[in-house]
Amino acid sequence: MTTFHVLTLFPEMIVQGLTPSIIGRAAEKNIIKLNPVNIRDYTLEKHGKVDDTPYGGGAGMLMQAQPVYDAHKAVSGDRKLRTVYVTPQGRPFDQGLARELAKEEELILLCGHYEGIDERVLEEVVTDYVSIGDYVLTGGELAAMVIIDAVARLIPGVLGNETSAQEESFHNYLLEYPQYSRPETWHGKQVPTVLLSGNHAEIAKWRLEQSKERTKRVRPDLYEHYEARQQLIKRLSKDKRNNIHIMECLARGNGEILYAQGEDIAVYHRESSTCMVKASSPEGGRRLLENCPDNIGWYVVSQEYMRELLKELGYKEFCECSQLLYTRREPLPVGHKDIRKLGLESLEYVCSHYDKGSSAYVRDRLLVGVMYGAFVENRLVGFIGMHDEGSLGMLYVEESYRGRGLAASLEAYSVNRMLERGVIPYGHVIAGNEASMKLQEKLGFYQAKDTFWWMEGMAEML
Ligand code: ADE
Repeated sequence: MTTFHVLTLFPEMIVQGLTPSIIGRAAEKNIIKLNPVNIRDYTLEKHGKVDDTPYGGGAGMLMQAQPVYDAHKAVSGDRKLRTVYVTPQGRPFDQGLARELAKEEELILLCGHYEGIDERVLEEVVTDYVSIGDYVLTGGELAAMVIIDAVARLIPGVLGNETSAQEESFHNYLLEYPQYSRPETWHGKQVPTVLLSGNHAEIAKWRLEQSKERTKRVRPDLYEHYEARQQLIKRLSKDKRNNIHIMECLARGNGEILYAQGEDIAVYHRESSTCMVKASSPEGGRRLLENCPDNIGWYVVSQEYMRELLKELGYKEFCECSQLLYTRREPLPVGHKDIRKLGLESLEYVCSHYDKGSSAYVRDRLLVGVMYGAFVENRLVGFIGMHDEGSLGMLYVEESYRGRGLAASLEAYSVNRMLERGVIPYGHVIAGNEASMKLQEKLGFYQAKDTFWWMEGMAEML
């Protein structure tokens, strides 16, 4: 369950603002938890005062460090919880940040009032400074509520519909297309005929065009990013097998272009802190790395000199692998009939058989709804998942159930789900895993020529 702690001088505002909504209902059902904490309860000043005038003069009052610090301590104890201070001075809030925050099990939102909060306590407790827009509100509560609403709706179960809102990232950061419902004619206006045609391909094409047209007109800034991504995808498609990981990251709308000079390209998947790199020479690669932030968690590279350059920067080789992709459109036959989407109830099982990621990572994959399990006589005996940067993986089948096509069925099943969502399935197979290579080939995956390395940043440098 995700808990939102809100440190505020107006807890009733948070309760009244969120309780009547979908978010309130999710809290009632224990899918999320809202914990408004009154900062005033923690002041040591006997009249309940929490503010004072700023040193150096100036208008208004400032919230003092002590009550904020003690309220924070009461919530976090000795834990280091992600703490968001809502302020016009922060990083702009967007869907990407909402998705990132939705991964936290607990989140503290700190609301300021008056002219702000004593800088010294902010330095000690805040991990993120976030603004909801270029305007100034009278306090942080409305901003905190906006953030809670946007983050909570991404948590599976909150919206109550089948496809998780996290999968919306596949919609490519374009604005939504127009929608219509009954009646077919209203105020003399007809519903666009294509929507009545039942032709799903035509409908999808029309919707994409509408989204593009609307984005171009209303948000030229977003459209420019969209265009840049599309152009880069086109360039990369000349060598699809070697570039599919970068192309898919861009196509699914969650890749930021950090660098693109000629054949030297770096695309960043912020949520997984993964930077996918393609370099044309050691000099180009060096320049490219100079343009990447120094707190990147992972690099995926396919040139040996890039691996060496990253080692010089303190990165460690995590694994060497081959890249494989499925370029056909037709779904694959699934031999085993009992394959199901897995939820949190399978966390323990998956963790006990998957050693390449933490339990928090597995939990996230289960919550996003991209893990599938094979069941035999109603017992879970194997699984597969989609990694956060988009590749297929995590495949496992219990030893005593191997040799009867369960792995192939699991993989075929996930490939089909990916095709339904319009994405190209691809995966990384660790060097030397002959069984997996054989399976990919049997299913019709093609292997890229390059060798790929996942390079891991060390905790102390991030
Ligand atoms: N507090 C006051 N104004 C704000 C804003 N625009 N964003 C976040 N917090 C705020």
